[in-house]
Amino acid sequence: MAKLNVTDIKIELTKNPKEKPNQEALGFGKIFTDHMFIMDWNEEQGWYDPRIVEFGNLSLSPALISLHYGQSIFEGMKAYINTNGDIALFRPEENFARLNRSAERLALPQLDEKFALTALEELLKIDKDWIPTEEGTSLYVRPFMFGADEFLGVKASSNVKFVIILSPSGAYFKGGLQPNKIFVEDEYVRAVRGGTGFAKAAGNYAGSLLGQKKAEKFGYAQTLWLDGVEQKYIEEVGAMNIFFKVDGKYLTPELNGSILPGITRDSIIKLLKHNGEIVEERKISIEEIYEAADNGTLEEVFGTGTAAVISPVGELFDGKKKVIVNNGETGEYSKKIYEQLTGIQLGKVEDPFNWHHLVK
Ligand code: PLP
Ligand code: COI
Repeated sequence: MAKLNVTDIKIELTKNPKEKPNQEALGFGKIFTDHMFIMDWNEEQGWYDPRIVEFGNLSLSPALISLHYGQSIFEGMKAYINTNGDIALFRPEENFARLNRSAERLALPQLDEKFALTALEELLKIDKDWIPTEEGTSLYVRPFMFGADEFLGVKASSNVKFVIILSPSGAYFKGGLQPNKIFVEDEYVRAVRGGTGFAKAAGNYAGSLLGQKKAEKFGYAQTLWLDGVEQKYIEEVGAMNIFFKVDGKYLTPELNGSILPGITRDSIIKLLKHNGEIVEERKISIEEIYEAADNGTLEEVFGTGTAAVISPVGELFDGKKKVIVNNGETGEYSKKIYEQLTGIQLGKVEDPFNWHHLVK
């Protein structure tokens, strides 16, 4: 099968560019730019017809295999205008590598990661004026892939679509760096080992929604998921990984196959170590955190994610036990690591690992 390159991308610019939104009221994932990237795959041709076209509805059969059986995966990353006025991404190669790991698990075809990144870069250059520049804003990038067969049998689709859409966005949580309240879920589970927890599979999120609704009913922003076997060990939060600062050390659940290997998680582990901090990736029981809270050694809790960035946690509650973290205030280290991470993303501070990716 022929290898695609940038000159194969057909470009059809919109004749009706939309008005740019007010950057102060973006919210998350509600507004979309003028263009999107699409390409198709089938068993005979491999990937074909890469194109950048006007953002708009897709025409899909009601018998679309992925609507019925959930053969659908996605990624999330962000584009910024850096301090030199250039377009920048943060470790985008990691997102396409993870998309391919998700694809393998969901029996979807592999992408040429370099070509997918090139396609994204071309799309970003076309929609550059949509990248917001107000503090705390960015252009959220959503690549996704799904089975496109018109067929009701349960099988891996023989036709697949890969699409990238772009959404100028503000903070994922309304309060930005204000601490969130998290509900510890001990009834439902999100994922089990051997399942699809490590993949960014659409169905993982579908299965989490009832827990999310329950959290919201109690006045909590998100769910803290426990392991799917004993419901004893901490896994992750609805849309982010989690870190606990206990007695001066940073603890985060080890990757075990059911947790999403967050790119922000990996970045924060590397930055913490670079800053001389001690990080432990291991099993952490919820009881251990309750004990740390009771004996006064639980100092800070924060979530990490592309959409969530660094999101401090001010309270944990499981329906019985309530833990207030750092008096419900944003911790010093949460602030420091937020500044360091967003500083690298915007090209403002030292980038010891070369993560700032310029789009030229
Ligand atoms: N865990 C879940 C369930 C997520 O949806 C996300 C967001 O992508 C993360 C963790 C954090 O991953 P990343 O840092 O790669 O965005
Ligand atoms: C992200 O952080 O990119 C996510 O995918 C989280 C969420 C919006 C599902």
